[in-house]
Amino acid sequence: TKSGSNIRADILEKVNAFYIQELYKNKFAYDYLKQRGINDSTIEKFALGYAPDSMKQFQFFKNANLNINELKALGVLSENGEYPRLIERITFPIFSASGKIIAMGGRTITNHPAKYINFTNTKIFNKSKTFYGLNFAREHILRKKEAIIVEGYMDVIMLHQAGYNTAIATLGTALTPDHLPQLQKLGAKILLSYDSDSAGINAALKASKLLFRSFFEGGVILFPEGLDPADVVKSGNDLNEYFKNQIPFLEFIIEYTIKKYDIKNPLQKKQALDELKEYIFTLPEILQESFVNKAAQYLQISPKLLLIRRSNQPQATG
Ligand code: GTP
Ligand code: MN
Ligand code: MN
Ligand code: MN
Ligand code: MN
Repeated sequence: TKSGSNIRADILEKVNAFYIQELYKNKFAYDYLKQRGINDSTIEKFALGYAPDSMKQFQFFKNANLNINELKALGVLSENGEYPRLIERITFPIFSASGKIIAMGGRTITNHPAKYINFTNTKIFNKSKTFYGLNFAREHILRKKEAIIVEGYMDVIMLHQAGYNTAIATLGTALTPDHLPQLQKLGAKILLSYDSDSAGINAALKASKLLFRSFFEGGVILFPEGLDPADVVKSGNDLNEYFKNQIPFLEFIIEYTIKKYDIKNPLQKKQALDELKEYIFTLPEILQESFVNKAAQYLQISPKLLLIRRSNQPQATG
């Protein structure tokens, strides 16, 4: 058999069932989820749980006859086998597209400096190719031809609870080319709905550049300063108001690249131009024209200026 095929993923189902039991035994953990605005059926749907202290977990592993080496290989235990990876955290099982648990993430509720911890990659889990929530969202994405990509677990969970059942998240990583084959298979328009803070906007800019260049349709959704989708659902505000205002990738890339500069200042205008040009030369030719024309409009310059390579290179004198 192939190496790794003997890894018993059902162990993760057992561990997760234990974490679920612990959620109901530890009222403060359950209360935390309630206080975040998550209701009982959502807790059940996403199989949320609580990882208790290390000793309780080892007791369970022993009673359930779970093998330490297998627990290590699956990511439940640290590399040296001495600690469970998730301790005193809310647990989020990460499902494969077909609904099997392949890893877990955990959020501290005791102000631990690492707010979230994810399992490291294993034989059955590759975090740079996995979308959290895709098992639930898939059929809806295929039907609506639209997927909402968010930053985190809580955003996926709260959007689904609010009826936005096409939400998926990358796992604490940026959207990379490794994620694209899965998205291409879905054949859907992509809405980026990241945190409306500077980190989130930068991430949305990078992701937009990647998606536009790869011929995806879609755009970016922004919220009031500082909020993420989970915050907006919790606030009770109507999300439709925000989802109605989609900024298409093309416009978003241009507008938010230019925004970094004060283009009334000629030097900064040149820097904005250079940054846009750097991107333009990564574009397939067929996408260059529309991009160049739109960018020229925004900068109020001639489109030609965006197609000259290396304008900052000193000219050869002769
Ligand atoms: P809440 O405070 O629970 O609402 O979390 P959030 O999802 O809003 O957190 P944030 O916007 O800071 O992060 C988005 C996602 O990045 C999280 O869901 C995690 O997947 C990941 N992340 C955040 N903090 C950490 C961290 O300290 N370590 C790691 N590995 N991932 C993190
Ligand atoms: Mn963070
Ligand atoms: Mn954030
Ligand atoms: Mn956030
Ligand atoms: Mn949040």
